[in-house]
Amino acid sequence: MKKIYKTTSPEETENIAREFANGLDKNTPQFIAMYGDLGVGKTAFVRGIASKLAPEARVKSPTYTVVNEYRGTNLPLYHFDVYRIEGEDDLYSIGFYEYLQKGICVTEWSENIEDAIPKNAHRVTIERGENPENERIITIEEYKG
Ligand SMILES: Nc1ncnc2c1ncn2[C@@H]1O[C@H](COP(=O)(O)OP(=O)(O)O)[C@@H](O)[C@H]1O
Ligand SMILES: [Mg+2]
Repeated sequence: MKKIYKTTSPEETENIAREFANGLDKNTPQFIAMYGDLGVGKTAFVRGIASKLAPEARVKSPTYTVVNEYRGTNLPLYHFDVYRIEGEDDLYSIGFYEYLQKGICVTEWSENIEDAIPKNAHRVTIERGENPENERIITIEEYKG
């Protein structure tokens, strides 16, 4: 099932993300693959997810650290930014595959690791709209068994 939204502010993007997170099963490890260019709002979307699943988290892009871990109300929330990841070896060295079993994983720059994205991932794509300053088109493809 594909849902498409248009937002005109980061707050609105966060709200869409919060609503999406609200529909997730909070007790089951799962994967959210995010796609979209630099500055499009991926981290803003993660902030919205975290506001639901890990309300104490201070979300910022883990570009240099690759993964941030936030304490969740149920499972931990793992926030990846794989912009600098170049292949399987890099993923193994950060322990990527172990995180998949342990919590809710959300990944910025999923384009870079397409082969490693689980088949049952939810997919979120953000693009700039007609007004690239503040318009965003958010496409959410939720995986349903
Ligand atoms: N509708 C919108 N949704 C999300 N971010 C927006 C929107 N309009 C403008 N912005 C701006 O775009 C930038 C998004 O930054 P960020 O979430 O860090 O992007 P990314 O993680 O994709 O690089 C922020 O500066 C934010 O203020
Ligand atoms: Mg980011």
